[in-house]
Order: sequence, then C-alpha cells, then structure tokens
Amino acid sequence: MNSLTEIGGRRLPFLRWSFLRILVGMKRLTTEWQVGDGREDALAEHVVRHARAGDVDDAIRVVDEFCYTRSYMMNVGDEKGALLDAAVRRASPRLVLELGTYCGYSALRMARVLPAHAHTVSLEFNPDNARVARRLLEHAGVADRVTVVVGTLGDGGRTMDALEQQHGVTTGAVDLVFLDHDKDAYLPDLQRVLARGWLHPGSVVVADNVRLPGAPEYKAYMSGEEGRTWRTVEHEAHLEYQSLLKDLVLESTYQPAPG
Ligand SMILES: C[S@@+](CC[C@H](N)C(=O)[O-])C[C@H]1O[C@@H](n2cnc3c(N)ncnc32)[C@H](O)[C@@H]1O
Repeated sequence: MNSLTEIGGRRLPFLRWSFLRILVGMKRLTTEWQVGDGREDALAEHVVRHARAGDVDDAIRVVDEFCYTRSYMMNVGDEKGALLDAAVRRASPRLVLELGTYCGYSALRMARVLPAHAHTVSLEFNPDNARVARRLLEHAGVADRVTVVVGTLGDGGRTMDALEQQHGVTTGAVDLVFLDHDKDAYLPDLQRVLARGWLHPGSVVVADNVRLPGAPEYKAYMSGEEGRTWRTVEHEAHLEYQSLLKDLVLESTYQPAPG
C-alpha cells in the first residue's frame, strides 16, 4: 500500500500545499519567476547543508529529494532530466546555451554528463534565481563549467551582444540549446539564435514543457520544418516530480539545406 508521502509526494503532488502554493502565486511566477514563499533560497540552504561539497551527483540527489518531500519546484526534474542527459550524451557538445537557469538543477545535470572541456552558458531573467543557481553550482564543484548570465535574448540585442563578446557564443559555436524559459519565447528566441548564426548543421535543440504548460507555436514550427531544416524526436514524459500529468520534450537536430 502507498504511504502518505507517496500519495501526496511522488504521484500526486497536487495534494501538497507546496504545489497548490504555486497555483495561488501563478501570476507572480510568470512575471517575477519565483514562487514567492522563499523556496528558492530554502533550496540553496538545504543543498549546502545536506549535499556533500564538490559532489554533483549528491547535489542533484538532494535537489530531487527536496522537491519530492518539501517544496515542489519547476526544475526539469528527474524523469525529463534523464531525457536531457541522454540528448546531451548523444550530442556530445562543447558549448551549451541554456535559456532558463532557475536554481541551476538542469545545469547541474548537464555538467555531470558533458565532455570534460565543455562549457554551459545559462541565461536567466531573474538575478535572484541566478544567485541561487551560482550557489548550487559552486557547492557542487562545477561553477567553472557553467556561466550563469542575467538577461534575456529579447532585450533588443544587449544580452546577445554580451553573449557574443564575453561568453564565446559566436557564429556556429553552439552545439546544444536547452529551451526551458518562458514558453511563449521558445520560438522567437530560437529565431533570434538562428538569425545570429550561432548554430551549425547538427546542432541540437532540446525543449522542455512542450505540452505542459505548453509551447504550441514552437511545436507547430518544428512540425512544419520536419525533414526540411529540422529533424525532431518527440519524447513522451510527465511534468516534473509527479506521474499523473503528461508532458512532452522535443529533441530537434538542425539540418539546413546546404548553400
Ligand atoms: C522552468 S524554469 C527553468 C528550470 C531549469 N532549466 C531547471 O530545469 O532547473 C524557467 C526559468 O526561466 C527564467 N526565464 C523566464 N523568461 C526568461 C527569458 N525570457 N530569458 C531567460 N530566462 C527566462 C525564469 O526566471 C525561470 O527561472
């Protein structure tokens, strides 16, 4: 028989206050990108206190445990995280561009499976989230392999110029993009990346939450471009940290026509 933790935790977190609290604060969540009850800073405290310093596996384990048992969070989570790990292993990238750092969970996961000299540039809108992420990455011993940059690709070119001039995000340099930020920005930001020429044939774009909360314009774009400029594999999964609501992760390989 399931324990209460199992019922209110792994399978049905909707029964937990920490999940309902997100729904209550949804407007704030999609404008300021923090839940509003201090759980992001609480996560950082928890990881520093309970995960072995310099051990990325342990940091990931402790974040997942925090999200299952204390506060639900909008990380990619363990199930979809395994899909991301596999995509990163397949692509074997040297430079990853992540859009949407939040507390650094996916950046930790990618750092764990990336080749030794690879680097991730992770872009985050909210400076408080960036501070939490840097703390986790530092504690896990991978801060030298991930640069968290505060900004957005849609700010008129300021952040894109900074990425090019200061972080090596230049023509043909990006091997893998992880889209996990504002769902309405997936397609416009991918188009900004393409317009700057940062991708090369064979670059891979992984997109989380394509079904939930949903990125319909992005999905329609990838469907329309299938076999033309992109080849996409759809990975069925569940929304993070529960097993009832379904989600979809897209893994798309860039294959523009020669010339
Ligand atoms: C779903 S969370 C990212 C989760 C993270 N990738 C993980 O799995 O651990 C979304 C994050 O994207 C950030 N964000 C929202 N809009 C953004 C934008 N236009 N550019 C960069 N970051 C953005 C939010 O502040 C939030 O921290």
